[in-house]
This record gives sequence, C-alpha cells and structure tokens, in this order.
Amino acid sequence: KIGKSREKACRQEEKCPPLGLESHKVDNDQLLASSMLRYGAGPHRGRLNMQADQEEEDDDFYDGAWCADNEETQHWYEVDARREVEFTGVILQGRDSPVHNDFVTSYFVAFSNDSRTWTVYHDGYAEWLFFGNVDKDTPVISEFVEPVVARYIRILPQSWNGSLCMRLEVMACPLSSLNSYSWQNEVTSVYDLDFRHHNYKDMRQMMKVINEECPSITRIYNIGKSFRGLKIYAMEFSDNPGEHETGEPEFRYTAGLHGNEVLGREMLLLLMQFMCKEYNDGNPRVRRLIEDTRIHLVPSLNPDAYELAYEMGSEMGNWALGHWTEEGYDLFINFPDLNTILWGAQERGWVPKLVPNHHIPIPENFLSENASVAIEIRAIIAWMEKIPFVLGANIHGGEQMVTYPFDMVPTAKLHQTPDDSIFRWLAIAYASTHQTMTETHRGMCHTDDFTSGQGIINGGSWKSTSGSMNDFSYLHSNCFELSLYLGCDKFPHESELPQEWENNREALLVFMEQVHRGIKGVVKDQGGNGLANASISVEGINHDVKTAVNGDYWRLLNPGEYRVTARAEAFSPATKICVVGYEIGATRCNFVLAKSNWKRIREIMTLNGNRPIKLSKLNKD
Ligand SMILES: *[C@@H]1O[C@H](CO)[C@@H](O)[C@H](O)[C@H]1NC(C)=O
Ligand SMILES: *[C@@H]1O[C@H](CO)[C@@H](O)[C@H](O)[C@H]1NC(C)=O
Ligand SMILES: *[C@@H]1O[C@H](CO)[C@@H](O)[C@H](O)[C@H]1NC(C)=O
Ligand SMILES: *[C@@H]1O[C@H](CO)[C@@H](O)[C@H](O)[C@H]1NC(C)=O
Repeated sequence: KIGKSREKACRQEEKCPPLGLESHKVDNDQLLASSMLRYGAGPHRGRLNMQADQEEEDDDFYDGAWCADNEETQHWYEVDARREVEFTGVILQGRDSPVHNDFVTSYFVAFSNDSRTWTVYHDGYAEWLFFGNVDKDTPVISEFVEPVVARYIRILPQSWNGSLCMRLEVMACPLSSLNSYSWQNEVTSVYDLDFRHHNYKDMRQMMKVINEECPSITRIYNIGKSFRGLKIYAMEFSDNPGEHETGEPEFRYTAGLHGNEVLGREMLLLLMQFMCKEYNDGNPRVRRLIEDTRIHLVPSLNPDAYELAYEMGSEMGNWALGHWTEEGYDLFINFPDLNTILWGAQERGWVPKLVPNHHIPIPENFLSENASVAIEIRAIIAWMEKIPFVLGANIHGGEQMVTYPFDMVPTAKLHQTPDDSIFRWLAIAYASTHQTMTETHRGMCHTDDFTSGQGIINGGSWKSTSGSMNDFSYLHSNCFELSLYLGCDKFPHESELPQEWENNREALLVFMEQVHRGIKGVVKDQGGNGLANASISVEGINHDVKTAVNGDYWRLLNPGEYRVTARAEAFSPATKICVVGYEIGATRCNFVLAKSNWKRIREIMTLNGNRPIKLSKLNKD
C-alpha cells in the first residue's frame, strides 16, 4: 500500500530525483564494478558528466568514465543506495574524451536487496533490453514502467561502440516517510521560499513580486539586453534605491555567465526573497546590511543560453549545452585582456609613472563596432563603469570552490595580485562559511583536491585564462571580483534547492558583509567639495583605487596599519596612517587636499591674462 501511494506521489512530481552520482552525494564507496581498466577509469569515474583531465596528455589518472578491463558482456556496474528506495530510471552517457568514441548502446538492469541475489528487470516474458547512447556526450534516460523497490541496482552492458566505458546517474525516490527511514536528501528549510527553477518569465515574475513586497528597499532595472533581446535584469537593495549614497559601498552578485550553470540564479532569487522578508520582519543583521550597503543582484547574465539548458532540464543537457551565448562567446573570458598591457608596461618600468597600476583603459579597438565582443559583455562593462562597485562575485557551477584573481598566468610569480592577501581572505570568507565547500577530503568534482583542503584557489593556478571578468574588474575598476563555484552538478534537481540554500545562505551574507572591511572615507578640497577621480595609494600595495563622484572611496584591506596617500590632479598629495582592526566595519580615513602651487600659479596667470607674472606678486599672495 505504501509503495502504491508513494508511486503516485513520484509520478505527480514527474520523475524521481537523481540519487546523486553527478552531485557526489553518492560516495565513491557506493559505486562498484565487475572490473576496471585501471584506477583512473574506476567505478568512481562513472558519474554523469565526469570530466577527463584534459590538461594531462595521457588521462590515465582522471579518465572521463568507468571502463571495464575487457570487452565482454558479463561486466556490471553497481550502485548501492544504502537503503531501500524506489528506482524509477537510469541515465547513461559515454566517455568524456577528446580521442575515444566509447559509449554503451544497450544494457540490462538488475536489482537486489543484498547484492547477492539479483533480479533482472523484465517485461513479464523476457529480460528487458534498454537502449543506450548514440554518442559519447548526450545523456539518454530510460524510465521503468513501474518503480522497483530495492537497495542495489546494476547496469549490465550488452553492446557498445569503441570500448566498454560509461557514465551514469540513477533516478530514485525515498520510500514513504511513514516508516523509519529518513531520506538523506530531504531538508525542510525553515524559510518559506520559492524553491523552484525559474525560466525567464518566472524569474521576471518572481522579481516583480519581491519588488511589490518590498517597494521601499528594492528597485528592478536592467543592464542591457542579450543577443536574442532578453533583458538582463538586476535587483537593487538599498534604503535609498536608485542612487549612490556618499560613503555607502556598492556590492554586486552576478550569476549565469554560463547559462547551464543555474544554481547561482536560484540562489540569488532566494537571497532576494530572504532579504525582503527578513527586512520586513525586522532582522537587525539584514536591516543593517541594506541600510549600509547598496546591493545589486543579477541572476542571469546570459539569459539566452539559460533557456536552452532549461528546456533540456536538470539531467538531460550535456556538460556544454548552454555554456556559450547565442553568438558562441564564453562570457566569463570575453573581457579585454588588460593583464598583458600591465605586465608589458611593468617589464619596461613604466608603472606607475607612465602607465597606471589601476583603472587601465580598455584598448580602443576592443569595443569597436566590428570587434568580436559579445553584446552581453558590452552591457556588463558599461554597468561596471557606471556604478562604483567595491566588491563582487560571479557564481558558477561544475566545481565546488572559490577562485580569486589573477585568472591569467604569464609567469609563476605574476598570478598573484598585489592584493593577494585580502583576496585570499575574501575567498576563505565564502568557502569556510559554506556548509560543505571545505570538505575536500574526498576530492574535487573531477580530480583530487587541489585546494589544500581550503576550498579556494588562485584562478590562474587552476586554469589559466585571459580576459576573465575577475581580472578585468580588478585592473579596470575599483571592484574586487571573485568566482564562486557552488557544486559539481551544474543543473541540480529542483528537490536539492532547499539543501543548496542551506549550504549557501550564511556564506552569501558573510561575503556581502566583507564590503565593510578596510578603510573608507572622502577626499575633499579645502572648500569642503568632494574630489572625484582622486587616487588612494596604500604603501606596499601596488594597486590604487579611485574616488567616486562625491569624492568617496573604499579600500578593502586586511587588519593592519597602513600608510595611505590621496592624490588628485592640481592638488598636493596628503598622507596619513590608517589602522584597520579585526572587527567588521571600515576605518574612516578622510583627506583634505590643498591646491598645489602649480595650480595656484596657473590661476594667477589666468587672472593676469596669461601674461608672465613677476615673482614679487606670487610671494605677496
Ligand atoms: C526488496 O525488499 C522489498 C521489501 O522490503 C521488496 O518489496 C522488494 O521486491 C525487494 N526487491 C528485490 C529486488 O528483491
Ligand atoms: C564508434 O567508434 C569508432 C571507433 O572506435 C568510431 O570511428 C566511430 O565514429 C564511433 N561511432 C560513433 C557513432 O561515434
Ligand atoms: C565593420 O564591418 C562593416 C562590414 O564588414 C564595414 O562596412 C565597416 O566599415 C566596419 N567598421 C569598422 C569600424 O571597421
Ligand atoms: C582621472 O585622473 C587621471 C590621473 O590620475 C587622469 O589621467 C584622468 O584623465 C582623470 N579622469 C577624469 C575623468 O577626470
């Protein structure tokens, strides 16, 4: 009876969720096979969307599939669900490889409660032969006519192309919660939020509802349009939405540069709901954050590609579908490469005298009409230039870690920015607050742990890329930008959203609060007018920041004592010591700049009709 009612429930929620081979919720020791070609093609490599390590010439250690050690039909691959469940289907995929064309084309499925006696799935007359893949990348699902109750499931490949290799996922529902089993995946969030995937229309609707519930602290705007004309929506949270307030730092979270990495979009929609609700309920922490910060949340920077991935659904897109824009750009790395310009100038000794160590201009040809730059990138750059952001993060999937700049590596030494220590702190602030990001003892998603157990890595030490959003943001603007990779599964099943919200909620808040670290202040002239475009230099850190229109600035710094100099054209520089403590809350460090003598001389010259002036007049002045 229990089985029947559960079966109905399963059907109503369409499919059962994945057991978690792709997400790594299923441990390596739950995966077993009759044999393996070598350790690097062991059963632990048989997870859906597992990626071979392409960097390695011979991918012996990190192969892109489980492979049997010979080409015979008695081989099997086994998954232990650790308790009795209702299996409803399996998804098969071939081997990720640049050279091999290996995939299973037909197979039997068998079930067991003890892993000794096995029942092969049959149609009442004969064993049921399921059809598998037709290429190595596209996942193919087979759903059982009736769910099968068992603890173990086996795939028995019967035919294949190339060698016997495969990756897979298993779909299963927990047995009824009426009995003593508690399902490992099931989290009841204490927050009554909308835990669903939102396509473009639903996202727009959701944002509208939040805006209506919190009209005094939110504003919806868009930063431009995608290639297909979808708006790139942003939601602003501030006690004065719509304007920059002097002294208040600006923060941004963006998601979905790659349309198929969808968790960031849902985390930002949940964050919007959460902040609106908690603000209205008087949560002091959320109130303080919104009163002291202007926060911009952009859930979908590549809305065209998201729609592609969304149509295929959570398991059926392959690793790459929806990664690029409609025009074929990878948005994360389509920014101008300013690193090469800066490093070239540094080699010649031109920095900072001839070439600045910050706010490096975009090369003229980059934004020209015919340059190969995505329309979405043009919109993002215009937005970055318009708002004086201090801190931001872009959210990705497919790994679980935080990366910080530089993302580009020219030499072993240069992958560190002059701000390496504060970048490491910012990365750790997210990773260590996330509920599982530092649990790296079982390895990363596709390889062993390369983060030394910290869940963070310098982007360039992971994968060197030029033109990344993080490097561009650091070198062209004041904004320190990092990348958050939220998990192995790029498109988690809807049922996992409550757990993912729990994993990320505190980290999302803590990271935003870091915008209030270091020093901040206003640079003014002696008449009390704010000086825009003044630079703030910190001794020992070869990277300046600039003041915003009202003369206000923010400089993220770790605790310590700093010699800080403010400079503006036609003013004499001023230097002072500013001390940053351990508690959150930036230290105020204001500057008043006196006009330089040269400025005064020029003014007097103007008064005199630019005629040469006698020194005596100057001295009298
Ligand atoms: C496993 O045990 C359950 C009862 O707990 C039974 O309904 C099911 O048919 C068994 N499955 C197999 C494959 O023997
Ligand atoms: C099957 O594998 C062979 C070589 O192993 C390859 O040439 C062929 O293209 C593959 N077939 C498909 C459909 O990929
Ligand atoms: C861009 O390309 C078009 C057509 O190829 C050409 O007519 C135009 O002059 C080009 N513009 C620039 C700025 O090069
Ligand atoms: C800002 O200051 C720099 C020098 O630090 C100068 O080269 C640049 O033209 C100024 N920009 C504006 C918009 O005033």
